Amino acid sequence: MCGIFGYVGARTDASALVLHGLKQLEYRGYDSWGIAVPRDGAIVVEKRTGKIGQAETTLPASSIGLGHTRWATHGGVTDENAHPHLDCAGRLAIIHNGIVQNHRDLRRELQDAGHTFRSETDTEVVAHLLEDELGRHGDSAEALVQALMATFQRLEGLNAIAALDVSSGCLAAAKNGSPLTLGWASDGMLLASDYSALLEHTRRMTFLDENEAALLTPDGIAIFNALTGERLPPEVKEVEWSAEQADLQGFPDFMSKEIHEQPHVLRRIARERRQDAERLAALIRDADETHLVGCGTAAHAAMAAQYLLARVAGRRSFFANGSELAYMERFFKPGALAIAFSQSGETIDVIDSVRGARERGAALAAVVNVEGSTLYRMSDHAVLLGAGPERCVLATKSFTAKLAVTLLTAYALEGRVDEAAELLERAATEIEAMLSDWRRDYIRQIAEQIYLQEHLYVIGRGPSYPMALEAALKVKEVSYVHAEGFAGGELKHGVIALIEPGTPCLVLAPNDETHDDILSGAMEVRARGGTIVGIGPRHDEAFDYHVPHADLGEASSIVQAVPAQLLGYYLALLRGHDPDKPRNLAKSVTVE
Ligand code: F6R
Repeated sequence: MCGIFGYVGARTDASALVLHGLKQLEYRGYDSWGIAVPRDGAIVVEKRTGKIGQAETTLPASSIGLGHTRWATHGGVTDENAHPHLDCAGRLAIIHNGIVQNHRDLRRELQDAGHTFRSETDTEVVAHLLEDELGRHGDSAEALVQALMATFQRLEGLNAIAALDVSSGCLAAAKNGSPLTLGWASDGMLLASDYSALLEHTRRMTFLDENEAALLTPDGIAIFNALTGERLPPEVKEVEWSAEQADLQGFPDFMSKEIHEQPHVLRRIARERRQDAERLAALIRDADETHLVGCGTAAHAAMAAQYLLARVAGRRSFFANGSELAYMERFFKPGALAIAFSQSGETIDVIDSVRGARERGAALAAVVNVEGSTLYRMSDHAVLLGAGPERCVLATKSFTAKLAVTLLTAYALEGRVDEAAELLERAATEIEAMLSDWRRDYIRQIAEQIYLQEHLYVIGRGPSYPMALEAALKVKEVSYVHAEGFAGGELKHGVIALIEPGTPCLVLAPNDETHDDILSGAMEVRARGGTIVGIGPRHDEAFDYHVPHADLGEASSIVQAVPAQLLGYYLALLRGHDPDKPRNLAKSVTVE
C-alpha cells in the first residue's frame, strides 16, 4: 500500500529526487510522507501528515536519500508515525510496507534492552533491531546488508523494508509479499515500490523476488537470498513502459487521462495479445475446471469473464473474490486452473488465494498490467494488459483491458480470435465517440442533475450484472455517493424498497436477451419516482436520460463501462473531490 523511493549515486540532489519519486507514488498512500538524508554523519528527516501534493523539501544536498508515502495500518496518522523511523543513534533510517505481525513482542524485547521508541508504528521495531544487528556486524556496506537480512528474518508477516545507513552511505532492502523494484540508472541506483516511478531514470529494472535482499551502492546492486545470505546474480530486465506514459500529458488528472486512453489500449490488445489469448485458451481447454479470481474492480472483470466464457465458448467456470477463494481452497486439485485478474499483480488477497490453489496442484495463469509483479512472476502463463501505468487510484483502463483480453480468450477457445479482434476495434471506435466533447457534456449534465442525491443504484442482467457492480463501485469510490449494483431480477426481492422520488438508477440495457426484462425493471423503478438513466443501443420510454452506444454483441460490456466512469468522475468534481485520490483508498492493497 505505501510508496517507497530511494536513491544512491552520483547526483547531489537526492532529497529533491526522492520527493519527486514519492509524488509519482502518492497513489499508493497519502496519509503522510517523509524523507531521510544524511547530514554531518547523522540522519535528518522531514516528515509531515497529509498529501505530498505540492510539498517542497528543505533537506540538505546529498547523494543518498530514502522516502515513503504512508497508508496507515499501525498507529494514527501523525508526524511521529510517518516514515522514515530512526534507530536510537540516528545512524539508520527505515521505511516499510506491510505489517510486522510480531511487533508487540519485538518492541517489548527492544525496550527491555534499552531502546527508546518515538512512534506507535510496527515499523520502528525494524530500526532498533537493525541497530542491534549492526552492532554485531560492523560498519561496512556488506555488514549493512548482512544485518538487514538478520533483522528481516526476525519479522513475522509480509513485509518490504529498506534502510539508509549513514556510516556506509548505502541503501539495503529485503522483502516478502510487498513489491520492491530496483532501478539501474547511469548516474545511480534506485529502489521503488512501483517501477513506474523509476521510468524517468531508467527502464533497466531488477524485480526483487520473495525473500530476497539487495544492497544498493553508488555503483551497483548486489542481490542476496535473504534467508540464507547466499549471493545471487542480479536479473536485469528492460521494461515495456516508458516515462511519457506515466505523465498527465495535458489532462487535468489521471482519471480523465486513463479513461481517454481506453480506445488505444483496446486496439493494442487486439493487435498484440492474440497469441497470449490463444495460450490462455489452451490452458482453459486442458483444465478440468477453471477458477476466476480478483478483488474490487478486478473481481468484476473476473465475474464478467465467467459470463463471456459461458456465452462465447460454452465453458463453465467458477468466480470468487480473492478474499473468499481461500475458503474453497480444499476443492482445488491437480488439473484445475486458477486465473488471477489484477492490475497491480500485487493484491495480497489474490496472491494468497492462488498460492493456496497452486499448493494443491492447480495451474496458475494471470491477467495483469504490471510486468514483473508478484502474480506475473508466480504464474505459469501471464497475459500482460499493456495498458501502461495506471496512476489514478481507481481502475478504469485496466478494467476494460481485462475485459478485452477475456473477449479474445473466449473467442480463441472457439477458433474465432479474429472476430474478437474486430469487435475490439469497433469497441475502441465506439468509446472514442462516447468521449467526444458533446457526449461527455451530456453525461456531465446528468451528473449536474443528480450530484446532490445520497444514493444511486445500477441494475443489469446476465453479462451486464458484473458491469452494474462495477458501475456502482466506480461511482461510490470516487464521488462518495452511496451506490449499489444489483442483478435486475433482484429488484422485486427487496431493492425496490430503496427507491424514492428522484433516486437515480442506471439501467444497463444492451441488445441481448436481457433487454426486455431489464426494461420492465426500469419501469418499476420509474413508477416509484426513480430517475432512469438508460445505457444501451435503443431508446425506451422508461428512460429520463439515454446514453446510447452501438450494439457490439459480446463486446457491449466493454463500452458500457465508460459512461459510469465518466459519471463517477463528474460527480466527484461537482462534489469537490480529487478524482485521483479518493479518501481511505490506496492503489495497491498489499496487506490483508
Ligand atoms: C477500484 C480499484 C480496486 C482494485 C482492487 C484490485 O477502482 O481500483 O477495487 O481493482 O484493489 O486491485 P488489482 O487490480 O491491482 O489487483
